[in-house]
Amino acid sequence: MRLIGKNSAMVSRVIPVTPFDLVIFGATGDLARRKLLPALFRRMLDGQMPTNAKIIGVARRQMSRESFQDFVREALAEFEPEALAAPKVLKAFLAALDYLVVDVMGDAGWADLGQKLRPDVVRAFYLSVGPSLFGEIATRLNRHGIATPQSRIVVEKPLGHDLASAKALNAQLGACFDEQQIYRIDHYLGKETVQNLMAIRFANALFEPLWNSQHIDHVQITVAESIGVEGRGGYYDKSGALRDMVQNHMMQLLCLTAMEPPAKFNADFVRDEKLKVIRALEPLRVEETVRGQYRGGGGEGSYFDHVENPASKTESFVALKVEVENWRWAGVPFYLRTGKRLRARVSEIVVVFKKPPHAIFPEMATQGSNELVIRLQPDEGITLNMTIKEPGPGGMRLAQVPLDMSFAEALGEDFHGPDAYERLIMDVIRGDQTLFMRGDELEEAWRWVDPLVAAWAESSARPAGYDAGGSGPEDALALLHRDGRKWREIES
Ligand code: BG6
Repeated sequence: MRLIGKNSAMVSRVIPVTPFDLVIFGATGDLARRKLLPALFRRMLDGQMPTNAKIIGVARRQMSRESFQDFVREALAEFEPEALAAPKVLKAFLAALDYLVVDVMGDAGWADLGQKLRPDVVRAFYLSVGPSLFGEIATRLNRHGIATPQSRIVVEKPLGHDLASAKALNAQLGACFDEQQIYRIDHYLGKETVQNLMAIRFANALFEPLWNSQHIDHVQITVAESIGVEGRGGYYDKSGALRDMVQNHMMQLLCLTAMEPPAKFNADFVRDEKLKVIRALEPLRVEETVRGQYRGGGGEGSYFDHVENPASKTESFVALKVEVENWRWAGVPFYLRTGKRLRARVSEIVVVFKKPPHAIFPEMATQGSNELVIRLQPDEGITLNMTIKEPGPGGMRLAQVPLDMSFAEALGEDFHGPDAYERLIMDVIRGDQTLFMRGDELEEAWRWVDPLVAAWAESSARPAGYDAGGSGPEDALALLHRDGRKWREIES
């Protein structure tokens, strides 16, 4: 059953941003190569990035401007092949690039950087470097007079590994920049459907009256990945799924699902509401948490093939029962799960409604409930599972059918949600912090997660093993079973 058809009235409405100078620290690194530079190119291709914008790559490696341009051309050929089909735009993009070696731990190169920047345009500093350098760079931008009041600084996770380190980081950045200048990226907030969650909730009259404990039985948030830890064992084994995914990305999904409607769609109003959700979270009870580690399967090897510590207790899977203790959500559990090497790559939020209060059809006792499934990836869209009469003669039999809307189908064949970084970098230039984490949000999220990290570290129990390519440990199934509930299948 199709909810709406292709909407041909949907046209691109791209408004170019103001001229800017963007400095990417760590410009020869993986994030810059795979994500940031291709994202900027796509914004230029779309007409959003002004041709007089300047992108200054900064790194340790000695390289001429021309070599950096070659490096970027190669990165685009690999990660944004469309670039080769648009030679004019590619030429303009490469012309916008510059490169500089700067000693981020010393004083060399900073004066040159200052000279390359124009006095009258927005300045953005993207710190695509390890977190230990955030404070060093922020301090030097300040000391060398490069950070003007119009400047913005962009940082990305890991933003601390616990409350104390997050506070220290906030203090370091706060000593050099105002909160309004600090852009903490959580790339999940840049995903189209994550933003759509706010539109679905607050731009429709349909759902919000039902969005509470009166009508909702529980909520499931799943971020399943089919890939494993692979080459990132060094980082991942120190982090684990709780810090890598729950404290940030899943927390954001939880907040956007549970928050009250903000009075306005602006940065502080939205972030105030998200913060209230985090503050309302009940402390986690260890017995309502599950951690797992994948075992071999499908020729990919096990977690231990990718990390050095053969006795590692780091989790590659987490499931949690979370309670939001406020008026709206009292008694409605939010079940969260995320893991690597699961059956499929699928991220979705499932809102499971209560059954109708009175059953006039005998079959209603065994029928499933209405479910609103918001799919973030792949195949972004929403599905509403409804109960209808099964067609045909033979009396009143019931069946469940999906009212299904794939955004790609509904919005046209050409629909491609922009990559999260495209949206987020342009928001930095526009000075819109709505989709970025505020310092207090970051700290509160750690405050909530830290006790579980500590409890797991102290416990002699090991994470439960689960088969690669499956749906996680048995314990995760049991977490819902004992509440008389069931996870939605992980399937793409
Ligand atoms: C990153 C995590 O933040 O998000 C990775 O460090 C994870 O471990 C990734 O794979 C998932 O992002 P996405 O956009 O692929 O869902």
